[in-house]
Amino acid sequence: MKRVLSGIQPSGKLHIGNYFGMMQPMIHHMESADLFVFIVDLHALTSVQDRDRLRQGTLEAAADFLALGLDPDRCTFWVQSDVPEVCELTWLLSILTPMGLLERCHAYKDKVAKNIPASHGLFSYPVLMAADILLYQSQVVPVGKDQKQHVEVARDIAIRFNNAYGETFVLPEPEISESTAIVPGIDGQKMSKSYDNTIPIFLDEKQLRKRVMLIQTDATAVEDPKNPDACNLYALLKLFAPPEKMREVHELYVNGGAAYGYLKQDLFALINDYFAGARAKKKELLDNSDYLRQVLAKGADKARARATATLDLARDRMGLTY
Ligand code: ADP
Ligand code: TRP
Repeated sequence: MKRVLSGIQPSGKLHIGNYFGMMQPMIHHMESADLFVFIVDLHALTSVQDRDRLRQGTLEAAADFLALGLDPDRCTFWVQSDVPEVCELTWLLSILTPMGLLERCHAYKDKVAKNIPASHGLFSYPVLMAADILLYQSQVVPVGKDQKQHVEVARDIAIRFNNAYGETFVLPEPEISESTAIVPGIDGQKMSKSYDNTIPIFLDEKQLRKRVMLIQTDATAVEDPKNPDACNLYALLKLFAPPEKMREVHELYVNGGAAYGYLKQDLFALINDYFAGARAKKKELLDNSDYLRQVLAKGADKARARATATLDLARDRMGLTY
């Protein structure tokens, strides 16, 4: 059974990009993998420095996963900071991490380019992520395209460690689903909370409709043919519409007759139906936060048992035992 691991930051409202890029593939893995899913609150500290927001965000992220179908009895589901062994492994790995490897990371460079202050934490973020991945001896790491480089960094660090100290870590591989590698936002750029172009999945009906209506489209007249591959509305429809509906939409794009306003209505209805059950379930879970805490505490115990075994091995390999 493959060991599959991925995490999500509790730092914002879950959006369609997060769902198709990461959560849905993870939930599918529950069927056949030894699955590890966690909420990365230590990483979120690089962008959320507000106590109440982080606490609430962590509970919400837990409710998101469970509402969307993750079964905590069929995987290991926990909050990153509940297993502090990850911080010790971060230090051990940082010894083997060249500065240049981190300087090349796009996520860091993008943030600095956007004038986000460059703290040491932001710079060494990929080392903490490597520790997340290696601590659980993960083989497969499902992520969106933007996180691929970070998984490669983890692999690189694992290779360096194994070369220096002998076989210790499993080498992880990123898993990127091509069809949903980059879900576009309402402005056509990658959907991301940092671009304020998301469609959050747990909006109520009214807000969801408003958001979908804001999707930007070009000024081609209804009767004119349009290029489906260049249209973000088309890309979003493709994620939700059944194949027969998509064939119809495709015809309208190619031959003329696609009316963006009507298609947005269709998209709204599809998204709304798709997440209606999960929305109700999420509300129920958030009303019972003690249950969420219990689930996460149990998950942390399970995760910690695995984490300790790997950390002990790494400590021993490095000579931290006497
Ligand atoms: P954001 O870009 O909104 O800050 P995160 O960086 O927290 O999102 O991403 C959480 C997970 O969701 C990651 O695995 C990431 O690759 C995936 N993801 C985020 N946005 C998209 C997108 N537009 N398309 C596909 N996957 C995405
Ligand atoms: N950096 C990832 C993101 O922003 C979250 C993350 C942290 C992660 N640790 C991880 C993802 C380990 C996969 C595996 O989306």
